[in-house]
Amino acid sequence: MCGIVGYVGPKPMKGVLLSGLRRLEYRGYDSAGIAVEQDDKLLLVKVTGKIHELEQRLAGVDMEGSAGIAHTRWATHGEPNDANAHPHTGCNDRIALVHNGIIENYQALRTLLLERGHHFSTKTDTEVLAHLIEEYLEKDEECPLDDAVRLALQEVDGTFGVVVIDHNNPGQLVVARRGSPIVLGVGENENFVGSDSAAFAEHTRDIIYLNDDEIATITASDYTVKTLQDEVCNPIVEEITWELDRIEKGGFDHFMLKEIHEQPQTVEDAMRGRVHPDLCEVKLGGLEEVHDILVSAERIIFTACGTSWHACLVARRLIEDFVRIPVEVEYASEFRYSRPVFNKGTVLFAVSQSGETADTLAALRLAKDEGIPVLGVVNSVGSTIARETDAGVYLHAGPEIGVASTKAFTSQVTVLSQIALLMGRLNGRLSKKRCEGILHEIVRLPGKIRSILDDTGSISEIAEVFGRVNNALYLGRGYNFPVALEGALKLKEISYIHAEGYPAAEMKHGPIALIDDDMPVVVLAPGDQIYPKVISNIEEIRARKGRILVIATEGNETIRDLADWVIFVPKTLDCFYPLLTVIPLQLLSYYVAVARGCDVDQPRNLAKSVTVE
Ligand code: F6R
Repeated sequence: MCGIVGYVGPKPMKGVLLSGLRRLEYRGYDSAGIAVEQDDKLLLVKVTGKIHELEQRLAGVDMEGSAGIAHTRWATHGEPNDANAHPHTGCNDRIALVHNGIIENYQALRTLLLERGHHFSTKTDTEVLAHLIEEYLEKDEECPLDDAVRLALQEVDGTFGVVVIDHNNPGQLVVARRGSPIVLGVGENENFVGSDSAAFAEHTRDIIYLNDDEIATITASDYTVKTLQDEVCNPIVEEITWELDRIEKGGFDHFMLKEIHEQPQTVEDAMRGRVHPDLCEVKLGGLEEVHDILVSAERIIFTACGTSWHACLVARRLIEDFVRIPVEVEYASEFRYSRPVFNKGTVLFAVSQSGETADTLAALRLAKDEGIPVLGVVNSVGSTIARETDAGVYLHAGPEIGVASTKAFTSQVTVLSQIALLMGRLNGRLSKKRCEGILHEIVRLPGKIRSILDDTGSISEIAEVFGRVNNALYLGRGYNFPVALEGALKLKEISYIHAEGYPAAEMKHGPIALIDDDMPVVVLAPGDQIYPKVISNIEEIRARKGRILVIATEGNETIRDLADWVIFVPKTLDCFYPLLTVIPLQLLSYYVAVARGCDVDQPRNLAKSVTVE
């Protein structure tokens, strides 16, 4: 949430900062701003709206200093307007800073600063930090910028990824982090800062992940990293693992559509080198060191948010089926403030695309503090959750830019399936014969996803109808109940149509009262074991004149008599249907949103990577 860019070096400053902001716009897009130190002055421009508004405002403006910072905002404190946009300054406009996170004690600090004669020009929590830093610098003319930032940060409670610029310290940026991601980009005679490496990936592939409670000072030719307690650190320079085309639209109208179409590839990547059907083997390098923990696991807790939580619901069935141990799936935001009972043999999995979701991170820390093994299933390499878990598996899906998660879900389910298979074989409750059959099927899934994507014509036609309704219901059972939740979430978040996901049989306990001509119902009815029961649920809807879209298995021609529309998916094993049935639902929500003229990649009020709680 919120995108941060910083640059020190000889390249045209405005261009580097704006292109970095465009790469990060998915992290927040309600206002944006830029500050450049030029000729011992700070030039500052802030606007309400998206990056293109800022670009228009800056057209023809000379902003070519030796250090600069920029920010794209997702508002927490203070409505999105020009004043509340970052960067923020103190009373004397000596320093400017951009911030991602929340200063929890900002009210108390603001009162103290007002008493000391400061005046405030915004409603944000962040502004107090600018005043504090400026105060330290002005109290002592000799105070280095990094000391002032360090001292000011000692006074704040909360989370921060922060970058500070000072016109009295030209060509320098000070960067610090606690709880909000910050990555340094190391170039030749130039250095970068970003809230993720997409901000500068076209300039350098060498990166340093700043850890919590670290502070870095960067100039064009050098960088130093210390702890907030002033101890020198030896940061490790790593390499960006994905190619630049992963953050380009590549000819698609939207990132979301591109990412939906990437799924044959990303699902394959999620099992590359890991699945060996002929050897009846799943090799997950990231979990090898914890095989003993997996063998002796007596209970699994999954924790996650949103779409990742839905993937965990699929994983619950997979693990209960293959491993035969109890599984709980917890919303991270609830779990972190509960008093969970951990017993011997409990293992916690944190599942996250971004690896930065604040609630998921807090949930895993809670378990870790209790001595529970914490494992991760994460997409973003080097992210905080990836680093704080004891071991884990990467999705290798590449950056997901569309705010609505698509390819991450299918990669999560693919990886979680492999974890379930591995655990089932390790504890001996999954027979070799059954495992062999499942592995031979899992490798066929990319081709099956591709065949769904090759024929999307009918989906865009159905979307025309769905685009005119205000409510929709999604029903599924068994492995497909989480898909119903996911389909409903996709529709509501990008097309703003109210949608509910329900277990199909729960209908008669209440929601069936809603059924009428204006409320289409999507029913997931692939040819799995629960299919006959789902058919009875479809009949109940038909009897009440509901309009029905059924997702069914190819070859089921009789279903046409029960449905207004049918979308077919190829046949697979029951446990893998979620990887196929979700694809038409992603496409449906995409085409509905386009039909309604919605901003698919940047839906209102949302942002990618929820780094605040
Ligand atoms: C929905 C969506 C969100 C995320 C959720 C968790 O399309 O993208 O619900 O799934 O914010 O994010 P991660 O997986 O990054 O922890």
